[in-house]
Amino acid sequence: MGYYWIGLALKKLFDDGVVKREDLWITSKLWCNNHAPEDVPVTLENTLKDLQLDYINLYLIHWPARTKKGTTGFKPENLIPTDIPATWKALESCYDKGMTRGLGVSNFSSKKLGDLLKVARVPPVVNQVECHPSWRQTKLREFCKSNGVHLSGYSPLGSPGTKWLKSNVLQHPILTSVAEKVGKTPAQVALRWGLQMGHSVLPKSTNEARIKENFDVFDWSIPDALFEEMSKIEQASFLIHLHHCNRTIGKIIETLFTYELWVSCRRGLFGGSFWLMILMASIGALRNSGTVRFESSS
Ligand SMILES: NC(=O)c1ccc[n+]([C@@H]2O[C@H](COP(=O)([O-])OP(=O)(O)OC[C@H]3O[C@@H](n4cnc5c(N)ncnc54)[C@H](OP(=O)(O)O)[C@@H]3O)[C@@H](O)[C@H]2O)c1
Repeated sequence: MGYYWIGLALKKLFDDGVVKREDLWITSKLWCNNHAPEDVPVTLENTLKDLQLDYINLYLIHWPARTKKGTTGFKPENLIPTDIPATWKALESCYDKGMTRGLGVSNFSSKKLGDLLKVARVPPVVNQVECHPSWRQTKLREFCKSNGVHLSGYSPLGSPGTKWLKSNVLQHPILTSVAEKVGKTPAQVALRWGLQMGHSVLPKSTNEARIKENFDVFDWSIPDALFEEMSKIEQASFLIHLHHCNRTIGKIIETLFTYELWVSCRRGLFGGSFWLMILMASIGALRNSGTVRFESSS
């Protein structure tokens, strides 16, 4: 839905007294083709205008990747080098003017987040990343925690029904078995897992009954033993990046290095994906940046 329509809906809700502005948390993101410092305030001004708001609560850099102004998509020819410190400085000016009450990032690895933390006057308060029981973000979560950055999990249900993820988290036998034992739906267990891990969850639904179902996650918990059981769920997400990447290896690398990739070498996990691991190792060597990690967990 475009921001213009969301703005109309918000205005009606405020005018009708259904909800007050101060009771809502509104986050928006800066897209990759508006990273130029001079474009940042204009983009946020337009967002505020469309949303009919004086301020938003949080403004995020959507991806640590930059594309040419006016282009759409991540075609290799659209990509240009980022200058996150310059973009961040422009965001800090917006913060100073009260256009947003907080600044953050999305899809930042701990390496990229660490680089930003070194130069930020106004520190990022949130890193919004893909996170669900099949993509736990263990290392990144630890990094965020130790640096006072809140991890917010997008696609917390594993984005069922899309090609974005190559595994179906909600149908994983461990998850469905936990759901059965606690008498909740697999979606509720996936969301509750996120809350118990200590991050926020951002589920999306267009279905009223499922929206209500997704809110029913606050007055119960997954018992410790079952919670522990969920840590056995295989990590599946990074395969999607290979799937999503466009034609060239360069593009693959470009996409992958934005992620905190740590590959569990647990026996059997990637059953025969030796060449995939070699590819990942090559990427790590190429980037030499610590964003691709190999970790033996057993
Ligand atoms: N920062 C980023 O780069 C980034 C990237 C991707 C996504 N996001 C954000 O994260 C949010 C969610 O992401 P997402 O849509 O990819 O993933 P998601 O919330 O994990 O999955 C959404 C899908 O799950 C279904 N669903 C919702 N509740 C359900 C339930 N209780 N039981 C079964 N199915 C259910 C929805 O279908 P119905 O609508 O039919 O219920 C929809 O198809 C979005 O707001 C998106 O903007 C951010």
